[in-house]
Amino acid sequence: MATDPLYSVYVFDAYGTLFDVHSAVARHRGAVGPTADVLSETWRTKQLEYAWTRTLMGRYRDFWALTEEALDVAAARVGGLAPELRVLLLDAYLELAAYPEVVGVLTALRARGAKTAILSNGSPDMLDAAISAAGLAPLLDAALSVDPLRLFKTDPRAYALVGERFGAAPHEVSFQSSNRWDVAGAAAFGFRTVWINRAGAPDEYADLPPERVLDSLGGLLASPS
Ligand code: LAC
Repeated sequence: MATDPLYSVYVFDAYGTLFDVHSAVARHRGAVGPTADVLSETWRTKQLEYAWTRTLMGRYRDFWALTEEALDVAAARVGGLAPELRVLLLDAYLELAAYPEVVGVLTALRARGAKTAILSNGSPDMLDAAISAAGLAPLLDAALSVDPLRLFKTDPRAYALVGERFGAAPHEVSFQSSNRWDVAGAAAFGFRTVWINRAGAPDEYADLPPERVLDSLGGLLASPS
């Protein structure tokens, strides 16, 4: 049964929330071999670390550059990657799989009159590529990248991009992320937050809790209990 939107703007983190970051390595699992999971985890962990440290240092490089650097260090950790495979993995990162419920959830939220947007550390080009590969462009009112600010989430200035674009106060925004650190940043900023905890991870940042925890984005369409 359709219900009215609870909030006027639904903002989604991109990587890990709408797009499965591990789908790039998964697509080439056979070629990568038994180190595939370590490679994928290290790739993601290093990519995020570089974003946070570079924000603290004031030494911005865009998220695509960090994605490449992170893949190279992850590859070194697992004993190296053939150059062709490096290219294939980076290409796959530009066409990550969207989680299966994404199209239906964005469509339903918009049908109820809500605005939908991405707020991501991703650079505009990589976001455009992923959005278009997944067919999400018609389902989004905005794809906001932190790139013009030359800093990354969880800096509050990154979350402020939403209000600048939509004219919405923080408490009118429902912010969805599968990344607990991002939920903490968004909660600190004043957004209503939903942690998409797909893997049943333990909670963190106890003083900055999500308003709701869901195991997939599909739960956004149900009334909160
Ligand atoms: C994003 C990543 C970092 O901002 O999850 O989309």
